Amino acid sequence: MSHFSLKPFISAVFLLFAFSINLKAQDGAKIFKQNCAVCHSLTDQKLTGPGLLGVAGRVPKPETEWLSKWIKNNNKVIASGDAYAKSLVANNGGVDGMSEFEYLTDDELKSVVAYIIAPPAEVKPSASGSGEGGTTEEKTEEVKGAIDPLYLLLGSIVLLAIIVGALRSVRHSLANSFNKKEGKPEVPEMTFVEEVKHWMGSHRRLVGVCVIIILFIGMKSCWNACYNLGVYYDYKTQKGYQPPQPIKFSHKLHAGDNEIACQYCHNSVEKSKHAGIPSVNVCMNCHKAIQKGPKYGEKEIAKIYEASGFDPKTGNYTNPQNPIKWIKIHNLPDHVYFNHKQHVVVGKQDCANCHGKVKEMEVVQQQSPLTMKWCIECHRKTEVAMEGNAYYDKIHKALKEKYKGQHDVKLTVEKIGGLECAKCHY
Ligand code: HEC
Ligand code: HEC
Ligand code: HEC
Ligand code: HEC
Ligand code: HEC
Ligand code: HEC
Repeated sequence: MSHFSLKPFISAVFLLFAFSINLKAQDGAKIFKQNCAVCHSLTDQKLTGPGLLGVAGRVPKPETEWLSKWIKNNNKVIASGDAYAKSLVANNGGVDGMSEFEYLTDDELKSVVAYIIAPPAEVKPSASGSGEGGTTEEKTEEVKGAIDPLYLLLGSIVLLAIIVGALRSVRHSLANSFNKKEGKPEVPEMTFVEEVKHWMGSHRRLVGVCVIIILFIGMKSCWNACYNLGVYYDYKTQKGYQPPQPIKFSHKLHAGDNEIACQYCHNSVEKSKHAGIPSVNVCMNCHKAIQKGPKYGEKEIAKIYEASGFDPKTGNYTNPQNPIKWIKIHNLPDHVYFNHKQHVVVGKQDCANCHGKVKEMEVVQQQSPLTMKWCIECHRKTEVAMEGNAYYDKIHKALKEKYKGQHDVKLTVEKIGGLECAKCHY
């Protein structure tokens, strides 16, 4: 049996690797579709942002470095006085219309930059016009249409099994005809299971190694699957979700132009787990007096009165009440524990780190994917805000002691247990 070939095993392992490399190559496309395609096409067509055709040729050199910096945090590039960045904003009517992507890892940045510089042929503009320039609907179809690498893997395994089976029977009949010629007795036909057992018995060490490799790959892909939940499956994330609301309430007008503090309306954000949506009474604090808006006149503000039972003619709350049914935008699954107070007060995180530039939004849009990967990545790179933080006065000393002598060690959220399953899962 020593001539039993190792090749099927080697090729199976190889296939698994090829499979994971293939996933890497698709990352750029995936990241682009999830984060950028709402605003950018890969042709020269302008959407919210410029078309990205030939972008590598026009940005400052070295282009990959500039692009990475720009994508990660375009605000920083603009603030640095970069002339090209300033011209981009000027061409966009003087407003910086692009979101930051601090949550992208260096690898992800690299792959999305590679992707926009040289998108694969099928998304480049084609004469038939079936390229990327189409509607969001079309782009969505494109992703759905792509072959799931899992099918490729399953297909290859089936094919491998067929080939092994065929080789087995060929070998058996060859051996028998050889034995016949030599006048030896025929080799009895073993069932596949028997043969496998026999082979495994005589190759214990090899079998052990294979089992370990397979277990390892299995565990690694389970971990990856967990880690990427909702990212790999594009359509699970609600990123970009922007439902129309029952009243045309504008954050830009209130929090931006009129500089009303977020906490004025989301007044439990520093006290509890929830940020909370303001009740209509909060609106009435101002709108009892402000009866007309710059854009919709009395129409939208009238809906506030309808909800609160306020009669603007008499100035009394005499009408029936009718609560506003705001549509919730951000939704974590029930098994996830997330606490605003912990992040905003203790962690000193700005609302914009997670919600984007709400101050500039006429209609709120979900800017972060809210996946496990997203939470974890921030916990990996964000340092705990210890200095002058009352919450930490007690344990500060203990932690300093623990990491004494390790000057370069960054005390990230990960180090205080921010990656433990039970911290985030009920
Ligand atoms: C909300 C809309 C929006 C999203 C999402 C967005 N961008 Fe942009 N992007 C813009 C706008 C608008 C500009 C023009 C400059 C400005 O106003 O900031 C721009 C400029 C750029 C430029 C410079 C283009 C040029 O002509 O030199 C690049 C490159 C770019 N974006 C890449 C990306 C990538 C990659 C992503 C996804 C990771 C992305 N953008 C996501 C709106 C967006
Ligand atoms: C004048 C009151 C008011 C102010 C000020 C205000 N908001 Fe809001 N916010 C609302 C209302 C009402 C809603 C629900 C309707 C909507 O989504 O537009 C809301 C919704 C949101 C949502 C989406 C909630 C969901 O459904 O998932 C976020 C995020 C948010 N606000 C963040 C902010 C941030 C950040 C600021 C400060 C920059 C801010 N808000 C300032 C009233 C306010
Ligand atoms: C702290 C004061 C304040 C609060 C609280 C407040 N608003 Fe306003 N609201 C304003 C101001 C100021 C304007 C702009 C008036 C103007 O520019 O003429 C405005 C305008 C509006 C408009 C008119 C928009 C337009 O362009 O026509 C709507 C609708 C509106 N607010 C809804 C709400 C709702 C809903 C709430 C409660 C969730 C709310 N506001 C809470 C101060 C407030
Ligand atoms: C570390 C990230 C993070 C920060 C910082 C953050 N939020 Fe949130 N916010 C979330 C997540 C995640 C949800 C979804 C929560 C859920 O579905 O249970 C959310 C939900 C909300 C909602 C919807 C209502 C609710 O309580 O679920 C509002 C409103 C909101 N945030 C406002 C704010 C404001 C205002 C700030 C700044 C003072 C802020 N957030 C800071 C991550 C963040
Ligand atoms: C923008 C960065 C950022 C994002 C995104 C983020 N966190 Fe955090 N998180 C922090 C910081 C900073 C702390 C540390 C707060 C402190 O000092 O206790 C923290 C702490 C926590 C803690 C307490 C950990 C501990 O050991 O005490 C939990 C639980 C948590 N986050 C859950 C989540 C969940 C769930 C999500 C995703 C829905 C999330 N976080 C997304 C920055 C973030
Ligand atoms: C920092 C917070 C955080 C930590 C730590 C964390 N998770 Fe999660 N997990 C999440 C969030 C947020 C989701 C929801 C993702 C989504 O809906 O796309 C999630 C989803 C999941 C799901 C998917 C359930 C579903 O809805 O399909 C599983 C399983 C899971 N986590 C397991 C784990 C395990 C195991 C660990 C420990 C190794 C862990 N998580 C640690 C935040 C966390």
